[in-house]
This record gives sequence, structure tokens and C-alpha cells, in this order.
Amino acid sequence: GQTARSDAHRPQFHFSPNAHWMNDPNGMVYYKGTYHLLFQYFPGDTKWGPMHWGHATSKDMVRWQEQPIALYPDSLGWIFSGSAVVDANNTSGFGKNGQVPLVAIFTHHNSKLEKLKSTKFQYQSIAYSLDEGKTWTKYKGNPVLANPGIVDFRDPKVRWFEPQKKWIMTLATKDRVTFYSSANLKNWKKESEFGRTIGAHGGVWECPDLFPLTHNGKQSWVLLVSINPGGPNGGSATQYFVGDFDGKQFKPYSTKTKWMDYGTDNYAGVTFANTGNRVVLMGWMSNWQYAQQVPTVVWRSANTVPRELGLTDVKGDLFLTSMPVKELNTLDEKPTTLTNLNVTGQYDLTAKIGRKHDTFKLSLSAPVNDFSLVLANDQGNELVIGYDKKDNAYYIDRTRSGKKDFEKGFAKRITAPRLSTDKTLSVTLLVDVASIELFADKGLNIMTSIFFPNQNLNKQFIKSATGTTIPTLTYSGLRSSLTSG
Ligand code: FRU
Repeated sequence: GQTARSDAHRPQFHFSPNAHWMNDPNGMVYYKGTYHLLFQYFPGDTKWGPMHWGHATSKDMVRWQEQPIALYPDSLGWIFSGSAVVDANNTSGFGKNGQVPLVAIFTHHNSKLEKLKSTKFQYQSIAYSLDEGKTWTKYKGNPVLANPGIVDFRDPKVRWFEPQKKWIMTLATKDRVTFYSSANLKNWKKESEFGRTIGAHGGVWECPDLFPLTHNGKQSWVLLVSINPGGPNGGSATQYFVGDFDGKQFKPYSTKTKWMDYGTDNYAGVTFANTGNRVVLMGWMSNWQYAQQVPTVVWRSANTVPRELGLTDVKGDLFLTSMPVKELNTLDEKPTTLTNLNVTGQYDLTAKIGRKHDTFKLSLSAPVNDFSLVLANDQGNELVIGYDKKDNAYYIDRTRSGKKDFEKGFAKRITAPRLSTDKTLSVTLLVDVASIELFADKGLNIMTSIFFPNQNLNKQFIKSATGTTIPTLTYSGLRSSLTSG
């Protein structure tokens, strides 16, 4: 399995590369019982550089095994973000004698052309695998989609559109998304554009994804668009639109800007291909604002936990929900359930649990009152997560969470306006050494945040300035998903 390491800040149940730099998840695909996670990877440093596709595999999206690098830079350029599909009908013709090819669709980034001030240095290419993802061969006819003169022209996410039996590519094209279609993954035709005058535009559009989700028997299409910078709490973040897609055009139901995750540390998230009706996303758990400065030594960055996506209706408007996949429950240690917990001032949860943890899951339901959970250590570092009734917002405050001087904007309190109108707050938190993921109100409000304490934050307190009673709270330590060797 993934090597167990004791280096400071190493996540214990999130994927992180054993060494060196990682950014976006790429080419995520489920095939023959194995989940493949490929990722933007630079094996030469702990900073971004000439991009490769790293590779890891898993049977459950929780326990990952790092594999040899899948794609190396070549004469056409570095290997930027993209996706992978199971070409079940062998439309590409890469399969021989009935073989089903896996096909990766990615951006070639030509730094030589970029230096020459060309506008056409990003274009789309493909590669295929006939051995279940072990080795990949680049197509001789690359690139398959030339650049029409758009500087930012990248991150192809491809899916099969069954009603019209064709492939759809959703591509980030600077300040909008462009849809292309193809019968064979090799010849692409432009269908339409979306977004120039809609959504958030505080930064360049990147890493889109388009997929259907069903709510109350009705199918809608969700379009994810990561933007950098311009996120609701600074730096990189992912917005989304819900609407209809007819194989040519995407039409949103509403023009309101919606954010998948109000935290600062969930970027470039996309979904696995070939998971049936299940839609599962993983994001890069960092932010371009400081990703290359964070104080880890042998590797940089981890991914979010895999999250199952859904839709829910709030006052006639459809919103995306994200919840941790059920496979993560296999890490649970024996849970402790507390009922009718009276919180006035501070409640010492660590004392109650009788054991210190820096990896745990906590779920609670509570009336709509102020409350917070404080993660602490003996050095005075603390991370605070909570709900603020006055602002009707969830928040994460990492101003005193430990190391923070590596970047001036890192230490702050970030907020998320509560979307749910439920009379009860329901919250699940996942804490893993250097990250916290907040899933509130059945996944309607999400916040992901990383932090770097001087010593592990292995003590927990619940606080409420106004006083509150928590009807139920379940706490469970989480086992590491890393194995040695
Ligand atoms: C997003 C991104 C992508 C690009 C990749 C390069 O984080 O900028 O748009 O393909 O990273 O590593």
C-alpha cells in the first residue's frame, strides 16, 4: 500500500504522493474493480514544474497504492490536466481482438511555444492503455484538438453521451467552457460555448466537469468550473451550475453563482468515469495562493476524501450536495455516542473520550445556535470550526492553527453562508492531521481547510458562547489507510 510515513503533516487517510509535487486529480476512472487516480505530478521537486501524470490505484478509494508514472512530457509538451474513459465500444479503434481500451484525454502544454509568445501552446491529445491502466501509449496522431488561438485552452473532461451515442468534451477555454463532440475520441467538433457572461470570473476558468444527477426522478446536468483566483474565501475554488444539456448546449436553470465548497482547499475536483449512477468527486486539497509554500518537506499536497455528489432543493433552487463515500466507514474505530450534551462555555471532549486523536470523525445534530469545535495542542495552537447564528454562517478559523508565515493570506477565518433552512444543524467533520472537511446539512454546505500545527492537534473541545444542548454527538477515531512497505 501507500507507504506509511511519520513525516510531519502527512495525512493518514487521504491520498498524498510518497514524495514530490502533486496538483489536480486527473483521469479518474473505475475499471474492473479498480479505481484509478492519476494526478498532476512533478517528480523533480516539491514545487510545480514540467507536468507528468502520476498514478495510484485502489479497490475502495480509501486505501491507495502508488503506481509508476503513467505519462511523461514529450516533444509536444508537458502533460496537463485531463480525464480518462472506458471506451467500451472501442470507438477509438485502439482495442485489438475485442480489447476494451482505456483512453486518456489531456492537455499538452508546450512551454517552448509559450516562450515564443505563441497563443497556441495548449492543445488536446490522447493516450490509451490496453493493460487496465498499467502502461499508456500516446496516440501517433496527437494532438487531436488544435488550439484556435486561445491562451488558456485546457483540461478536457470527456464522457459518453448515450442519447446521441457520442463523446462530449467539456473544455476550459479562458473565461468560458467550450463543448466539443466526437464519435471516436480523435476527431472533435465544436458544439457550443457557455459562461462568458455568467458565474464568477475573478480568475481563469479551469478543470470543468459535466455530469447528470437525478433529483426527485428528474435528471439535471451539473457543470463544475474551477476558477483561480476569485474563490469566495480567496484564491482557487470551484463554482457550479445546474441545468439542462441536450448534447450540444448547456442551459442553466439559474444565473446565481454557487460554490461547491466554501473552504479554501478543494480545487480542480472532478468525478470518476464509469461508476454507474454513483457520482464521486475528489479534489486537490490546496490552493494556488500558497500551495507551493506550505510547510511539508518530502511531498506537497493531498486530495480531499472521495465525496458522493447529489442534488437537493432549497426554496425551489437546486444545489449540489457532497458527502464522504461510505467506503470511508471502514476506517472507523469503535464510536462513542453522547446524548443531550449540555455545552455552557467549554466541554472537554478529549477527556470524555479518554484518548487523544488527530484523525477522527465527529457527527452531531444541534439546534440552530452558536457552537464550535476547537482542535488544540499543548503549544497553544488551535483550529476552530463552528456555526455563527448572527451571520447564519459556518466558519473555519485557522488564524492560530500553527505555522502560517509561509504566505500572508493563509491565516484567516473563512465563512460559508448556511444554505439549509432545516430547524436542526447536522454536521459531520473529518479530521486528518493537517486537514478538516466539514459536511453540514446533509452535504449542502461544505468547507475544506488545511492547517499546519507545530505539534498535532489531538485534543478537542466543544464551545458555545450562548450555551447550547447537543442532542446527539458521535465520535470515532479513524484508522490510517496507509500501510507500510
Ligand atoms: C489547475 C491547473 C490546470 C492545468 C494544471 C497544470 O490547477 O492550472 O488548469 O491543466 O493545473 O498543472
